Amino acid sequence: MPRTLDPEVRRALATRIRYYNEMGIYDFYRRPSAATDVAATIAVDEEEEPVSANAVSTNYAESGEEMSPRKATAVAMPVAVDENIFDAIALKPEQSVSDPVKALKIIREDLGDCTRCVLHKQGRKQIVFGVGDPKAELMFVGEGPGADEDAQGEPFVGRAGQLLNNMIKAMGIEREQVYIANIVKCRPPGNRTPERDECATCSPFLMRQIAVVKPKVIVALGAVAAKTLLAMSASMMQLRGRFYDFRPAGVRSNDPNWDGCKLAVTYHPAFLLRDPRQKGEAWKDLQMVMKELGMKAPQTSR
Ligand code: URA
Repeated sequence: MPRTLDPEVRRALATRIRYYNEMGIYDFYRRPSAATDVAATIAVDEEEEPVSANAVSTNYAESGEEMSPRKATAVAMPVAVDENIFDAIALKPEQSVSDPVKALKIIREDLGDCTRCVLHKQGRKQIVFGVGDPKAELMFVGEGPGADEDAQGEPFVGRAGQLLNNMIKAMGIEREQVYIANIVKCRPPGNRTPERDECATCSPFLMRQIAVVKPKVIVALGAVAAKTLLAMSASMMQLRGRFYDFRPAGVRSNDPNWDGCKLAVTYHPAFLLRDPRQKGEAWKDLQMVMKELGMKAPQTSR
């Protein structure tokens, strides 16, 4: 017999689920054996790894070792609980909006004057949300804002941004035709690499942006972007040269025409500025992307 939850329990349950969501945990499974134990409410199985899609497996050590794919966290649930509660919470507010500009605005508002990680108090001037065509077929994801981006509030506007612009031009398109964002939206002090927990805290917002833009291809620029998006740890050499099937972690697609996209990994433009000999390799990556998107490079490029 389906049981109706006491409103107070229901509210407590919703609060707890929201708490897990904020940690990047979205998938909840019922254990068949939990049927008898209503009092079990929600207890995360201690045996399981945490499931925060990006937090779990992002290991920035260049170990070359692939991490296990994200695991589902088992949550003991009473049977026949009003399951709509999960649907309601798992669906993001922007997913009920068809205009991607408005949807992105909702995510930006949700982010607010973010204080979720330490980067907010380490000298950031502003949050760098993302820029470009909200219906772009191609999306670039970098690591995090630098000084220029922090000052201007737009990703990739400094020297690395100039090179990214040239890379985009070489593909025969304009910067305005793609969408550009970063794993973290606040400048790490001294341009240090963002910490794992900072990436894990911030990237759920990027995942939601991806689910709104619904690109056909994402290009992860550098190891931090690649490892966070793919939730795996491997060297750039291992990560490049192929497509991955990508779905934004923690976001359920409610669009029958978009169930994820392809993801390719290439070198970060800042790395290419330091080692221009690798530009040829990056160009190979971009050519692979262009082929996937049916694009032709202009004759004059390169
Ligand atoms: N590097 C990044 O990863 N992102 C930017 O926006 C600028 C530089």
